[in-house]
Amino acid sequence: MLINLTRHDEIRARNVARCREKGILLPTFREMKDPSLVSDKVKARLKETGLWDVDPINLYRITWHNEPVDKGGLYGGVNFIEVPRQITGTRARILALVGKWFPCGVHKVGATYACLAPALVSGNFDASKQAAVWPSTGNYCRGGAYNSALLGCKSIAILPEDMSQERFNWLKTVAGEIIATPGCESNVKEIFDKCHELNAERGGNIVIFNQFEQFENYLWHYEVTGAAILEVLEQLGIKEENVRAYASSTGSGGTLAAGDHLKDTYPGIKIGAGEALQCPTLLRNGFGAHRIEGIGDKHVPWIHNVKNTDMVLSIDDQDCMDIFRLFNEDAGHEYLSKMGVDDDQVAQLSLFGISGIGNLLSAIKMAKYYEMDEDDVVFTILTDSSSMYTSRIAELREQQGPFDELEAARVHSGALLHQGIDNALELGYYDRLRIHNLKYYTWVEQQGKTYEELNRQWYDRNYWKSLPAMTSQIDEMIDAFNADILA
Ligand SMILES: Cc1ncc(COP(=O)(O)O)c(C=O)c1O
Repeated sequence: MLINLTRHDEIRARNVARCREKGILLPTFREMKDPSLVSDKVKARLKETGLWDVDPINLYRITWHNEPVDKGGLYGGVNFIEVPRQITGTRARILALVGKWFPCGVHKVGATYACLAPALVSGNFDASKQAAVWPSTGNYCRGGAYNSALLGCKSIAILPEDMSQERFNWLKTVAGEIIATPGCESNVKEIFDKCHELNAERGGNIVIFNQFEQFENYLWHYEVTGAAILEVLEQLGIKEENVRAYASSTGSGGTLAAGDHLKDTYPGIKIGAGEALQCPTLLRNGFGAHRIEGIGDKHVPWIHNVKNTDMVLSIDDQDCMDIFRLFNEDAGHEYLSKMGVDDDQVAQLSLFGISGIGNLLSAIKMAKYYEMDEDDVVFTILTDSSSMYTSRIAELREQQGPFDELEAARVHSGALLHQGIDNALELGYYDRLRIHNLKYYTWVEQQGKTYEELNRQWYDRNYWKSLPAMTSQIDEMIDAFNADILA
């Protein structure tokens, strides 16, 4: 079993008692996908609760359906936008799910919950005695620390020291402990080393939820992100032949799993994996430092279903930083208004974080590469929003000078309208195999995975399919756990 659901009754009973004492109930995958199933009692409490409050009722806001308000919101349709063509410069439509309206402002709060919940309800994590460790290069440790706080358990966030100041400032308010590892975004090996060190020092007192290998992360995105996209496509009445591509950068490879769900429904869809051109691991077996926080970490994550990936898009981080300024500086807004972007659309530009901009550029490259027309759709994800990175604007002003109309025109024209299909590789069978083979060096040589399992990922057709087959079992276990809390 790729997800450990072995029951440990004594620990499970302690977790039940703890949740009962703290008034905590756990949402199921069913409810995260379709929150209309959530009880009226929960909804009444949500009406009194802020989106970012550290209140366990916010576990029921782990869904793409939250009303886009800071306090008291219930549920509506899926949060998504269509990016205006004046911005994309593509003939095809580019649609994006919006991550800002998750509690603590990031979509990875879902994947971390999906890691914690099965461990709690099976008794593989002892909430009263153990600390949950969240190794991450971006928002995963934010979501993990937040969910741990909701569940009243200890947490340790591990992230590289160069991550944005906002991340550290906020983490200090929720995480039990924060460990900053050397380097930037792409220094994941240092994070893994720290995990091994912690394991050696603290052993049974911690449980490490490593997003890069934890299939619960894959499963949450397959189920919940995938279902949200399918719902939007249905709502807009997009014909099957026009559902052309899904573009997502890979940090842990979790978000990419929504593409696997889409491909199960729309077999013709192309799945594009984005990374930073400055760290072109998928494109060129390359390495390097870059500034697209949250993605591209000099290795291929264990949970990336490489055989299902059709294209690699390497995105220049300077384009992302330039567009981030275009989307957040006054001169950028004024220029885009002149170019015909209306006021509501300008207001939506704050929904893009830096990796969301990277995703947009991947989507643009795919739309152009496959020569998509007006009815075709590329879907992508805005994983968080600009509010995670406001300090970067001040830094860029200092490093690169003011952002005026001339700069806005340069960026709009160069990085968006004329974004080309360079550094985009359509993957053949052996390109995929080359990328898959890279897993050997990280996972088998360094991180203790077996050669046999690595081969199963490639050769066993049921390996990846066995994951969604586990969702109903997890939901049954959550239902039984909740029933015991209420008993
Ligand atoms: C800001 C940001 N963007 C993108 C990602 C990539 O998502 P995934 O890890 O699911 O591949 C992350 C991951 O934490 C992130 O923090």
